[in-house]
Amino acid sequence: MLESEPPLVVESDDDDTVCLGESFFLNDSYELATFTFGSHVLQLLCLQSASTDFDLTGQLVWPGARLLNEYLANNSELLQGYSTAIELGSGVGVTGILCSRFLREVVLTDHNDEVLKILKKNIELHESSENPSSCVALSAEKLEWGNSDQLNNILQKHPEGFDLVLGADIYILQISVPPLFDTVKQLLCQQGKERCRFILAYVSRSKMMDAMVIKEAIGHGLQIHEVDGSRRAISNLEGVIYDITLQL
Ligand SMILES: C[S@@+](CC[C@H](N)C(=O)[O-])C[C@H]1O[C@@H](n2cnc3c(N)ncnc32)[C@H](O)[C@@H]1O
Repeated sequence: MLESEPPLVVESDDDDTVCLGESFFLNDSYELATFTFGSHVLQLLCLQSASTDFDLTGQLVWPGARLLNEYLANNSELLQGYSTAIELGSGVGVTGILCSRFLREVVLTDHNDEVLKILKKNIELHESSENPSSCVALSAEKLEWGNSDQLNNILQKHPEGFDLVLGADIYILQISVPPLFDTVKQLLCQQGKERCRFILAYVSRSKMMDAMVIKEAIGHGLQIHEVDGSRRAISNLEGVIYDITLQL
């Protein structure tokens, strides 16, 4: 292990200790991949498969992002009348970056510092490949769900607030569901943004999580509707897009 790198994982047996540094698990051999959603083609850096023990799920593009991006690319009228969005759990950024083709400003967020590095690189890559006159503001910010200080910092930098909240395949751990809805609720309650909605691409992997997402949304005073025609098979799983708003 490098001297400058503190041991991150210490596995103890009775008479043995193994110290492994973070870099032991980290795979950052990203490859440029091309994604096509309707008539939109995006090139992004990502991994093709998960390969670590750390919370680096965001290094690859998930089925929920494909579901949401294909839906939005083919039904872009859904985004008409909206100009700003914040994405939660952006990973490599494929959803927020696609949405920047339809909106004026998109803020992509994630809590993982390694994921934020590749997210920022993908934003640069996208900006360098787009027509400079399209002038959409794209940025990346650190945001841990449930962390109001981080969210308030973002809202201070963007005092006009956000018209849309986006999320693709962000329900993996049950423990993250309540703080995620805390953040969503705070965003839906922004002053002057009564029309703000949370567009969530949900991929079903456990019945318990299916029920928990709906229960937590309702428990947070939100209404949750399935977007007509959005339910479909994706990567041998069932996906659906939910439209989530404050209860009237
Ligand atoms: C399964 S990946 C989905 C990534 C991307 N949306 C996609 O569909 O390709 C979940 C993402 O949420 C992020 N994430 C997980 N827990 C989080 C939390 N508590 N706060 C903020 N982001 C989180 C992860 O770092 C990861 O990028």
